[in-house]
Amino acid sequence: MGLVPMADILEKANDEYYAVGGFNINNMEFLQGIIWAAEETNSPLILQASEGAIKYIGMDYVMNMVKAAVKDTHIPVALHLDHGSSYEVIMRCIREGFSSVMYDGSKYPFQQNIRLTKEVVKAAHSVGVTVEAELGKIGGTEDDVDVDEKDAKFTKPEEAEEFVEKTGVDALAIAIGTAHGVYKGDPELDFDRLEKINSSLNMPLVLHGASGVPDEDVRKAVSMGINKVNVNTAFQQAFTAKVKELFDKDPDLYDPRKYCGPARDAISEAVKEKIEILGSKNKA
Ligand code: G3H
Ligand code: ZN
Repeated sequence: MGLVPMADILEKANDEYYAVGGFNINNMEFLQGIIWAAEETNSPLILQASEGAIKYIGMDYVMNMVKAAVKDTHIPVALHLDHGSSYEVIMRCIREGFSSVMYDGSKYPFQQNIRLTKEVVKAAHSVGVTVEAELGKIGGTEDDVDVDEKDAKFTKPEEAEEFVEKTGVDALAIAIGTAHGVYKGDPELDFDRLEKINSSLNMPLVLHGASGVPDEDVRKAVSMGINKVNVNTAFQQAFTAKVKELFDKDPDLYDPRKYCGPARDAISEAVKEKIEILGSKNKA
């Protein structure tokens, strides 16, 4: 099966009250570990690449590896740009064949975020590409996105309504207390805010920074209207922990296949667990 627009995947998730993983690829092992887990669990999948990952892997490699990965799959897969920072980057990804893009204008004032997001929506929708946007600021660090957690601003429900109405986005990333990367303290999710946002917007909402959020909180967020859950750090940790474990056992290891292979399996296991929590198993 080829790539599908993310909107198709999220529409079904929204109707049936589950969430689909927006799982980041950092290299070939991540891509394989993630897609094999989604296939095994018969789950839809959103593969996402950040600008940093595209720079690291190379655009041609991203496109060709993903093409190879989806060639024989029977599950719906979207390829999504994570935290796109400019119109130019987004156009490049659309030209290359991404089926979905995120425009992250959250660093701009509200009206400017609306104006810039609207331009992206117009261009993306004209070629059938899905758009996710962000309103409010999600804390923490991811690639070059660095927001002091204390300055992270939660999404205002009344602004969310105006934002969606004026931009026409397909999915909205909201700030309700999660942060990218490793949490400094325990994450505290503002479920009242999520309830207010979801009751006025019947559309797919996205939870970023889900690594480190307790499983029961993720489940609760999904039951309250979250349809896409982004995870990167937790899979990076799973990969690295396996590599460290193998080197602790045998410091003389030198064949990368001997530690990257098991680390890839560790990602697969972690992805399968996440898919269970999100409720997307057998929803392909
Ligand atoms: O956009 C990607 C994510 O929000 C991932 O966040 O690395 O904290 O899991 P995480
Ligand atoms: Zn994010």
